[in-house]
Amino acid sequence: MRVTVIGSGYVGLVTGACLSDLGFKVVCLDKDEDKVKMLQAGEVPIYEPGLKELLSRNHAEGRIRFTTDAQLAIDHGDILFIAVGTPAQEDGSADLAHVLSVAAMVGRNLKDFKLIVNKSTVPVGTADRVRAAVKHELTQRGMSSEMFDVVSNPEFLKEGAAIDDFMRPDRIVVGIDDGIHHEKSQRMMGDLYASFNRHHSRTVWMDVRSAELTKYAANAMLATRISFMNEIANLADALGADVDQIRRGIGADNRIGYSFLYAGCGYGGSCFPKDTQALVSTAQAHGQLMSVVNATEQVNERQKTLLVDRLVKRLGDDLTGRKIAVWGLAFKPNTDDMREAPSRVVIKSLLERGAHVTAYDPVAGHEAMVALKLDCAGQEALLNNFNLVAHDMDALHGVDALMVLTEWKNFHNPDFQAMKLSMRTPYILDGRNLYNPDALADLGIAYQGIGRRNELINLSVEPVMLETPALNA
Ligand SMILES: NC(=O)c1ccc[n+]([C@@H]2O[C@H](COP(=O)([O-])OP(=O)(O)OC[C@H]3O[C@@H](n4cnc5c(N)ncnc54)[C@H](O)[C@@H]3O)[C@@H](O)[C@H]2O)c1
Repeated sequence: MRVTVIGSGYVGLVTGACLSDLGFKVVCLDKDEDKVKMLQAGEVPIYEPGLKELLSRNHAEGRIRFTTDAQLAIDHGDILFIAVGTPAQEDGSADLAHVLSVAAMVGRNLKDFKLIVNKSTVPVGTADRVRAAVKHELTQRGMSSEMFDVVSNPEFLKEGAAIDDFMRPDRIVVGIDDGIHHEKSQRMMGDLYASFNRHHSRTVWMDVRSAELTKYAANAMLATRISFMNEIANLADALGADVDQIRRGIGADNRIGYSFLYAGCGYGGSCFPKDTQALVSTAQAHGQLMSVVNATEQVNERQKTLLVDRLVKRLGDDLTGRKIAVWGLAFKPNTDDMREAPSRVVIKSLLERGAHVTAYDPVAGHEAMVALKLDCAGQEALLNNFNLVAHDMDALHGVDALMVLTEWKNFHNPDFQAMKLSMRTPYILDGRNLYNPDALADLGIAYQGIGRRNELINLSVEPVMLETPALNA
């Protein structure tokens, strides 16, 4: 069985790389010529641990190819994955333009039976629309409209651990509808994922609509756990309790478990924000309320501004003359993905208040510049006060505060003494609760985490007053 993956972004490349590593002959199609040229030359356009090695090995061994040639790609695969983007539109609903244009392209190029597998995250009913778009093209060409099937196979990988998630899935959701191709489609999907089902079956078979909704339900549930913990953390701050102790106290309950209970400065990424919005939008279109998911989003938006609010409370609203360091730009560690990253909200807000921001991220610097240029469109002068540095300690010279926004491993155990000497005021706003408040208290470093008995940690360390009194306002 041969596989074609249409859309060579995060999901498409990981899917293609992993399936080629399992022995399938894979063709990855993308409409972006530069991206395909890079891939053909052995370069990988995204940072994802292990991906480059996996692609180069399978490319060298002839199991994976990259192309912009639609006809070649459609001819190649018995299974055609759709893995193109489904970004949020202005009203929050998912934009299906890429998915439907791929469906039409498949219909224009189809010569024999193909199984179309929808891997993009799409609202309920999209498989029907893909089916209709393919049929329309086939009918135009005077061909049988029964020479394909459409199934749903949503992707649950996490960026930063994508290869491992794909190769060792908790479950594989496959939605297939009753119809003349049901048995054949089920057999093909079973064969495709047989390597993962040898020990016990990880595949959860269901109908297409349920599979489409399962993906949104999973992301909404995970996002809700984060926002719930963020609200508990903010309450813990107000009450002098410690959210990390609470996390361990509730996580030990089997009914709750430990995952996704970390409080922080908000979630981001290409999935949770857009998928929760799309779910709310779908519910609205069907006259349903999604109160919990709505609240999840609102809490997250507030959480992204929490650290700046705290800084302003201490240093004043006008941050002119203040220097702030930021460690971590990507929305999470082990990726350079800046989509919806909290750092974007934080940095823009600091720059608008007149602060000078020096930032460090192990891999996301380039993507961060692209994102911040977009965010500051029309206010380009703001970026004169922003600079990136190549080492974490270089960000700290003479700063009034350090904000930690991404939990990269190399931020876990820094040299606090050296940091204290380098900073103008030793003050850390820890957006990922990486540090031990008691240890920092002993070191005389002012510290604010998220939900960690905030007001108690050395906030008596006075900020340095600036020479111009107005700047201390
Ligand atoms: N990134 C994640 O962590 C993740 C996880 C699970 C599910 N998803 C879902 O998977 C889908 C893809 O996400 P992504 O992050 O990989 O997107 P992406 O933006 O990284 O990649 C999409 C790719 O599709 C290509 N493309 C668009 N239209 C095309 C066309 N007509 N023909 C060929 N190529 C085309 C683009 O050029 C791009 O390279 C989305 O629906 C997303 O919600 C993403």
